[in-house]
Amino acid sequence: MEKTSIHGMWSSRLAFILAATGSAVGLGNIWRFPYLVSDNGGGAFVLVYMGCIFLVGLPVLIAEILLGRHGRRSPVNTLLDLARETGAAKAWAGIGWIGIIAGVLILSFYSVVGGWTLHYAWLYLMQLFGGAPIDDPAAAFSALLADPLELTFWHAAFMLLTVGVVALGVEKGLERAVSFLMPALFLMLLLLVGYGATTGHLGQAAAFLFQPDWSKVNGGVFVAALGQAFFTLSLGMCTMMTYGAYLPKDVSIPKTGAVVAVADTGVALLAGLAIFPIVIAFGIDPAGGGPGLIFTSLPLAFNAMSMGVIYGLLFFGLLFVAAWTSSISLLEPATAYLVERGRTSRRTAALSMAALCWVLGLASVLSLNVLSDVRIFDRDIMGFIELVASEIMLPLGGLLIALFAGWALKESVLREQLKGLSPALFTLWRWLVRVVAPLLVLAVLLNVLF
Ligand code: PFF
Ligand code: NA
Repeated sequence: MEKTSIHGMWSSRLAFILAATGSAVGLGNIWRFPYLVSDNGGGAFVLVYMGCIFLVGLPVLIAEILLGRHGRRSPVNTLLDLARETGAAKAWAGIGWIGIIAGVLILSFYSVVGGWTLHYAWLYLMQLFGGAPIDDPAAAFSALLADPLELTFWHAAFMLLTVGVVALGVEKGLERAVSFLMPALFLMLLLLVGYGATTGHLGQAAAFLFQPDWSKVNGGVFVAALGQAFFTLSLGMCTMMTYGAYLPKDVSIPKTGAVVAVADTGVALLAGLAIFPIVIAFGIDPAGGGPGLIFTSLPLAFNAMSMGVIYGLLFFGLLFVAAWTSSISLLEPATAYLVERGRTSRRTAALSMAALCWVLGLASVLSLNVLSDVRIFDRDIMGFIELVASEIMLPLGGLLIALFAGWALKESVLREQLKGLSPALFTLWRWLVRVVAPLLVLAVLLNVLF
């Protein structure tokens, strides 16, 4: 009998690809990637980032999925089972705890930004029915950030939509949501790149994205690029491990992993090619845009174009959908863990974790206004949570996952899970997770800490 997960199973390979791509493609690609490119010198950052994706990200992604599928439980319990099976120390289950804590921290601010996207999608929807246009986008964005109640409202709405899906379970919730949201997302993205091409600035945007200015590369660029590689592929916090636990046995992990990594990278680059032409066309300096980049520059363009309201609705709708399919994957690991501990239904488990993340998110809300002067290690509260979770905990979790899969798991288990991979690629993957990925991550982590 094939071992299955008590939480449910993806009904097909395609369902897993949609769910995992849905997790990967999110605010990380369309909001964070463009402003990181913009703040870290353009092309040089993009090249370092792509190196991180394929040398570290993809191998760790494969490791996470295979650990999940072999264990078939929530991360903490999967790691406990596998440690027992291999005779490794129980302490490896700490990876699962890093994952749960990082997930809670990330969801807390992710939902706040998800709320911005919902707010903007709503503003454009209302414009279709005669609502007021966003005349001065920079002022409108500042006004939104200055209003804790407004932010809290949209943060709550976003969190409710997230928990609504997770509470319904793997097949009826997650799989059903991604199977219509992901096709919609790709359609919206293609329409927007099509528009970017009509501005006549596609070439300049491509130059900004792909022509490296090596003088801009320093330790900080590597830290940001590696952190972004983990964040964008949803790695290091056992999300992909959890999704892997629901993956049918006959599906090829390396192939599906590669599809997910390529799709995620493709969406980030396409988002850059959709956004920077517009930014440049409106005379905005693409360098140094910061987190407000898309919220302040794109509405200018939408105001000036014919059918701009439709494009605005499409863009922020796209961003919201992308964020939504990621936030459900942020909530799933902790929910599955609570269900396995017993005495809780999935619904209660999902609701209580979401409530916790919502309350923690209020710290991020307040850091944008009332508490904006508070500085921890030179960042505001939201920036500090982001630093701890995505630049420290995700790489650390990824490092440990790579070591566990590479050194502790039995070779027979690896071969069974990676059946179909050629011997040469198997060896390549194994040395990437055993040595290359851990060393690169370690170098970057030391750079963050010292
Ligand atoms: N990958 C998502 C994005 O790029 O927006 C964010 C994310 C989702 C990070 C899930 C981590 C995670 F576990
Ligand atoms: Na992503």
